[in-house]
Amino acid sequence: MAAVELGFDTLRWQEDCLVLLDQTRLPREERYLPIPDVPALVDAILRLVVRGAPALGCAGAYGVVTAVGDAAERQEWLQRLEAGATALRAARPTAVNLAVGVDRIAALGRRLADEGQGRPADWTARLLESARAFHAEDAALCRAIGHHGAELLPETCTVLTHCNAGALATGGIGTALGVVYAAHAAGKRVAVIADETRPLLQGARLTAWELQRAGVPVRLQCDGAAGSAFQAGLVDAVVVGADRVAANGDVAKKIGTIPLAQLAREFGVPFYVAAPSTTVDLGCPDGRSIPVEQRGADEVRGYAGAVAAPDGVEARNPAFDVTPAALVTGLITERGVLASPGAASLAAHCAAASSG
Ligand code: MRU
Repeated sequence: MAAVELGFDTLRWQEDCLVLLDQTRLPREERYLPIPDVPALVDAILRLVVRGAPALGCAGAYGVVTAVGDAAERQEWLQRLEAGATALRAARPTAVNLAVGVDRIAALGRRLADEGQGRPADWTARLLESARAFHAEDAALCRAIGHHGAELLPETCTVLTHCNAGALATGGIGTALGVVYAAHAAGKRVAVIADETRPLLQGARLTAWELQRAGVPVRLQCDGAAGSAFQAGLVDAVVVGADRVAANGDVAKKIGTIPLAQLAREFGVPFYVAAPSTTVDLGCPDGRSIPVEQRGADEVRGYAGAVAAPDGVEARNPAFDVTPAALVTGLITERGVLASPGAASLAAHCAAASSG
């Protein structure tokens, strides 16, 4: 299979600094934003400069390195580590990968400081090594998901996706779009219908941009057009990513995903969720215990500074919804495809994932 090469870095560590591709400026402008400190990273996460669960995990991992910075004394190093980890973890609540990335590096930091060997500068170097490894691991998870998911797709097909679960949302080629890229690279004729994904248009701005660059045929539709696409028989499979998968298989994902799962069931189309095991939270028993981020009303009242709604109108803006496990045809992880995920099968699947 040909390697998938997209030609941009969603995030990278460059000259002692985390650098992010500023997704708020895409698709018009490809600009990289250096992140000098934790407040700058928290701001970037809140504004969705960097977004998508696995990419948030990688950014959080590098963020802990940013937090300790050049602290040369143990107490200060530890204090910066804890304050930074707390602020980063809290920046966005739904995507569990953010906490996973932060916790992985912070735990190593605590251990190094406890052991007390070497100097804080040596510990910082170890944290950076570990954050880089976490990032590389995420890229490998995406490749494996792509490989397993591509096998599910017919030789010629149209995939419906929502939001952006591509390279821009991960440290690699993406999860849902990783499946599409892998199928495309394997010679399958895959086309994509991308929902625009109101209110922040990740589908229109990001998914359409990266699929176009990759040479994958993509057609954009407004979110409300999904029903007509199923009715017209245009959709062969739905493939979406996830922000958190609960222990019973319920899936938190960008607002507007539940209707797609229901439509897929109604029209007999498979509904696949592509996510690495780092997105599975066995500590969350079911979807009701997943915290759903509520964002500002202005995002719904208008877009990019242009206000569409009447002044003062109230708006609700939950950033995610939770699709019940019963509507999921299969969960595609780095380990393979888990059909109809449920509590027991998901626990076993994850145990297999963590044991290699
Ligand atoms: O609010 P966002 O843009 O961070 O939401 C992201 C998504 O819904 C993604 O599709 C999800 O994190 C999966 S990313 C591989």
